[in-house]
Amino acid sequence: MSVLLKKNLVFNVADREYVGLDLYRSRGGYTALQKVLGQSPEASIEELKNSGLRGRGGAAFPTAKKIEMVRDNAETERYVICNADEGEPGTFKDRYIITHLTFQLLEGITIAAYLAGASKGILYVRHEYWEPQNKLRASIKEATEAGLLGDNILGSGFSLHLEIFSGAGSYLCGEETALLNSIEGRKGRPRLKPPYPTQQGLWGKPTLINNVETLTNIPQILKNGAEWYRSLGTSDSHGTKLISLSGDIQKRGLVEVPFGITFREIIEQYGGGPKPGRTIKAVNIGGASGVLVPQEMLDTPLEYGACAQAGITIGSGAVFVLDDTRSILENVHNRTRFFLHESCGKCTPCREGLRQTHTIIHQLLEGTATSHDVDRLERYTDAMQHASFCGLGTAAGNSLCSSLHYYRKEYLDHCQDSGHAANEAGGREEIA
Ligand SMILES: Cc1cc2nc3c(=O)[nH]c(=O)nc-3n(C[C@H](O)[C@H](O)[C@H](O)COP(=O)(O)O)c2cc1C
Ligand code: SF4
Repeated sequence: MSVLLKKNLVFNVADREYVGLDLYRSRGGYTALQKVLGQSPEASIEELKNSGLRGRGGAAFPTAKKIEMVRDNAETERYVICNADEGEPGTFKDRYIITHLTFQLLEGITIAAYLAGASKGILYVRHEYWEPQNKLRASIKEATEAGLLGDNILGSGFSLHLEIFSGAGSYLCGEETALLNSIEGRKGRPRLKPPYPTQQGLWGKPTLINNVETLTNIPQILKNGAEWYRSLGTSDSHGTKLISLSGDIQKRGLVEVPFGITFREIIEQYGGGPKPGRTIKAVNIGGASGVLVPQEMLDTPLEYGACAQAGITIGSGAVFVLDDTRSILENVHNRTRFFLHESCGKCTPCREGLRQTHTIIHQLLEGTATSHDVDRLERYTDAMQHASFCGLGTAAGNSLCSSLHYYRKEYLDHCQDSGHAANEAGGREEIA
């Protein structure tokens, strides 16, 4: 994996640089924790609120509000969990943070725990990240020996004990309530919400669950101030976003971009554009659970508001480019196979919807489906998106829905009755 960071913004790192504890401290690391421990938690939460930081795990929930919800709970036994499951295909930002910016992450977790009033924390790390897990284990030990974790942190009286929990390879366990079940030794299936984890989380206690990237933002915000952070983005979306850039482009890797940049700029300026002689056919934004959009949509700015309006899911920040040699149906077929494999089977719309949609796309690729099957595909996708129990099922329909919208002709061209289908499609909205 190459790192294409052009500037040091929030993630203070030059190309492939591992920031060990001494280097991190020499650059001002842990001054935010020192500052936070010396002022009221309310003042730090207010600063975070003003920064406008929103969760980077996919749902973009305001981080300060979540911390406050845990803090305000009458139950005093509370937990903080760092979600490092990073299961979204095409996403590799959290891995980079864990292996290169380990102490910035640990400082972020410590501050979040202090503000939420939690003294126990868990890093839920995906099973496949055994090397990052080792790095975390060694770094937790080093931070504890330096008085930055464990009992009486920096002489403040605040204590935080962190442990690592290894996932077992399930994509669904990245969903916060399935993650809680997994830690508790139950089946990794989602729970009904409410109650939310902030109300009744791990072992029934209030729990703050945040993504790796979200937590790693916190020390920089509290060190440099909310105004500095807001100045990096736009009036709608503050700060920066890590983008896992891959697919049919010239340079693949991790980039940190300020909010407001367009997807075209990300692909051209950081990714070098498509390979010589090729053009962009589609871009998948947000990972397997994200959307497939045509190149006409690439002038949309990376902003929560603008993306929501354009029907683009920023999600984990994966951007995967498909050039003109790629088949949309094959790409969507891969996704439905992935989700079918990862669906827990608890609810009918997701379990049966994925089975049916996967079969129909397979038949389309085999040339045995008709235009009526494309209509069925649309109905099943709609049911999955609106009636699934958890985010896996609702998001599994995103690439299906967007590709049916923008690339309907490609679906119809694969039908047995494609002549008839093409006529039928003439009366429909078609963008690609
Ligand atoms: C199927 C599914 C998988 C998810 N996987 C992850 C993941 O790997 N990492 C993550 O941080 N959030 C993941 N999430 C989102 C979490 O449920 C949760 O919203 C997030 O950890 C909250 O952190 P944030 O507020 O910092 O974004 C997933 C959600 C769903 C529905
Ligand atoms: S939507 Fe899918 S993954 Fe979620 S509960 Fe239903 S079957 Fe399980």
